[in-house]
Amino acid sequence: MTDGNTQKNSPVSGPAQGFAGGPVLAIESSCDETACAILSAEGVCLAQKIVSQDGHAEFGGVVPEIAARAHLALLPGLVQATLDAAGMTPQEIGFVAASTGPGLIGGLIVGASFAKGLALSLGKPFVAVNHVEAHALTARLPGLVPDGAAFPYLLLLVSGGHCQCIAVDGVGRYRKLGGTIDDAAGEAFDKVAKMLGLGWPGGPALEKLALAGNPNAIPLPRPLMGRAGCDFSFSGLKTALSQKLAPYGQDPLPHQFAADLAASFQQAVADVVADRITNALHMMPEASLLVAAGGVAANSVLRARLEQVAAGAGLRFAAPPLRLCTDNAVMVGWAALETCREAAALGLPQPEDSTTRPRPRWPLEDMASRFAPLESIA
Ligand code: KG4
Ligand code: ZN
Repeated sequence: MTDGNTQKNSPVSGPAQGFAGGPVLAIESSCDETACAILSAEGVCLAQKIVSQDGHAEFGGVVPEIAARAHLALLPGLVQATLDAAGMTPQEIGFVAASTGPGLIGGLIVGASFAKGLALSLGKPFVAVNHVEAHALTARLPGLVPDGAAFPYLLLLVSGGHCQCIAVDGVGRYRKLGGTIDDAAGEAFDKVAKMLGLGWPGGPALEKLALAGNPNAIPLPRPLMGRAGCDFSFSGLKTALSQKLAPYGQDPLPHQFAADLAASFQQAVADVVADRITNALHMMPEASLLVAAGGVAANSVLRARLEQVAAGAGLRFAAPPLRLCTDNAVMVGWAALETCREAAALGLPQPEDSTTRPRPRWPLEDMASRFAPLESIA
């Protein structure tokens, strides 16, 4: 454990036995999506609502203070609307969950405080969820992957803030095999999109523009490709692209040139990721499935390449549908249910995290301590 916010498993005090039987009301507020979902104990989504905040576009990126204030304004109505859509009263909720990290601290404080307050007022338990773990477990939502996503699997997590290859051995058991040494993949998409004068978030806009471009038109570097391991680097690619733009100065880019750049950039990212994932699969020969998660996993060129790599290695490939790749509350509710189930399977008390503080950083490797036997927790 690395910081003062470290929490311990604590025995359940008070709440009815078997609260993990759901339904769970889950809240996501770690970045600029304000989301709420209600899932049955089996993980069936009974209702979900999401608002992608629109106050950030003019700044070309998420402004933490604006995000936190928007979460505060949106959450009460969103939670009520989700309950209404599920046809449930608050009392019918089994427990409440929220992302408490990693992410932007203001939004995490708002979401976690709201969720804890709701749990307290209802006399129900509160379960803290690691946002990255929620992305990691999304593929296990019932019915998402044909025949299910059984452990162990290799996870490629590619979002605005993360770019990692993770061996997912079980709930709470994660090994980081490699990660970015500079920008996250989504960050690179967003920055390049900004250079091309596209809106924000840049990933979807860049993918759209690339449809009109030739992916082989403009030579760009493939950082770290051919090297051992499965680390990533995107800053050199970004710099190379900016040099192609330099001759145009402040002039608008010709549309075809911009489209060719977008397609060539996307191709370079897909080539690099395919190379890194090939190595990661060698590092995890026990994996029978490759899973992609996070916002960038919504990119169809990348998905197609990953599917090819997996097929070449004789593995299945799974990526959640687009709406579950980007931030959402369904994954938060599912991670909470998985956590409760794992605790029950290990004979541990159900988690009750009402004293947990939000954490802007929360490494996945820390999650194993949740399932440490009680006597080993100091
Ligand atoms: O997982 P996510 O919704 O939020 C976090 O960062 O946790 O990921 C958002 C990122 C943004 O950088 C966005 O530009 C990128 O995912 N993204 C895409 C696409 N859709 C979203 N990148 C490339 N292609 C896309 N279609
Ligand atoms: Zn995310």
